[in-house]
Amino acid sequence: MDRIIIQGGTRLSGDVKISGAKNAALPILASALLADGANTYQNVPCLKDIESMKQLMIHLGARVENNDDTYQIDATGLNNFEAPYDLVRKMRASILVLGPLVARLGRARVSLPGGCAIGARPINLHLEALGRMGADIDIRHGYVEASADRLTGGEIYLDIPTVTGTENIMMAAVLADGNTVIRNAAREPEIVALADVLKQMGANIVGEGTSVISIKGVSSLTPVLVSIIPDRIEAGTFLTAGFLTGDNLNITGCQPGHLSAVIDKLRQAGAVIEVHSDKMSIKRTEKIKSTDLTTMPYPGFPTDMQAQFMVLMSIADGMSIISETVFENRFIHVSELKRMGADIEISGNTAMVRGVDYLSGAPVMATDLRASASLILAGLVARGETVVNRVYHLDRGYDAIEKKFAALGAKIFREKV
Ligand code: EPU
Repeated sequence: MDRIIIQGGTRLSGDVKISGAKNAALPILASALLADGANTYQNVPCLKDIESMKQLMIHLGARVENNDDTYQIDATGLNNFEAPYDLVRKMRASILVLGPLVARLGRARVSLPGGCAIGARPINLHLEALGRMGADIDIRHGYVEASADRLTGGEIYLDIPTVTGTENIMMAAVLADGNTVIRNAAREPEIVALADVLKQMGANIVGEGTSVISIKGVSSLTPVLVSIIPDRIEAGTFLTAGFLTGDNLNITGCQPGHLSAVIDKLRQAGAVIEVHSDKMSIKRTEKIKSTDLTTMPYPGFPTDMQAQFMVLMSIADGMSIISETVFENRFIHVSELKRMGADIEISGNTAMVRGVDYLSGAPVMATDLRASASLILAGLVARGETVVNRVYHLDRGYDAIEKKFAALGAKIFREKV
């Protein structure tokens, strides 16, 4: 597996353009299953997870073509209702085909995603909601089997505002008979992006972006041409890199409005950030102030930025407390950061980070996407050489991260192993 080698300590400067959002693109590509005809999606990031979704769509009978960041998906020939183990184990987000398949074919058989490095990640809320919409749900031989002649709208209260759960329910409800109301719905920008696409396809949705989403089912949808929103987590990762080691870093093609909590926290930590409509600028300030942090569903501070923020705090002035409330096991970067000299103690879902003067380069490895991104940031600011092994995880969610950092002046390259 490839690895990334970084000589830390160079100052980053220049412009970096943010790619399309992985977590917006995945449900939007899955929504192609809801209509006959060719959909066109632009600004799709070049990622392993997108390739996995492409393979899944082809397996289900859709025609998929792509040229650079533009994808065409035509699900007219949709003829298979099964998402097999081999595809789902590569990417948990494969569960996003469950809602569309039941809505469109009246049937789905999807391998049950297992736990992963960051937690158990059950899908009980997706299944309970589909059950309330009239689907028969069974779990057999490691697969979820769901069937319904036609789903019916229902009142759904989510115990937790699950992101992919809300997306699955939305995609099931747009073709259901009658009205669906999702209470305690997720409010992430990716939910709004999916709703925008579904509405362009002819769906009737109100309330996206709030915790109550109402959907009136329609009998059919039509294909669309849409562009994927910029990736707020990629933008936040570069923003954090700019604070760690930037010499005037401009992050372009982003939507700063999606990053309010991150921008606010970085400012509390002493960052000077200039925000424009689709661009942000940041540079390193002399001292990073210790700042406590608690992850929360949107509009709170994203769990997907917690590991990157921890790198900042590991060289901040003083002690900070970082609490992870979204996933139960999202501190796998801690042991690797400690090997680079960080002083971090974990107690339950809380990490106590005592800032040290500097991090030292080391060989490291992580089994999760955002943890891997944090190790790249740590490598960029550390003294000496860092080798980030198992780059597979990074490739799942960051489009050409080492090329983007190299273009900003970082001494970073990929080694094929
Ligand atoms: N949960 C349940 N039951 C459910 C669903 C969720 O208990 O049926 C729990 C989860 O175990 C977790 C919490 O609810 O503790 C929130 O999970 P959620 O369902 O919101 O997460 P997700 O939809 O599986 C998406 C992103 C993640 C991101 C989370 C939280 C996609 C494809 N994935 O996951 O992205 O961390 O929301 O914002 O949208 C990443 O990009 O690195 C990533 C992990």
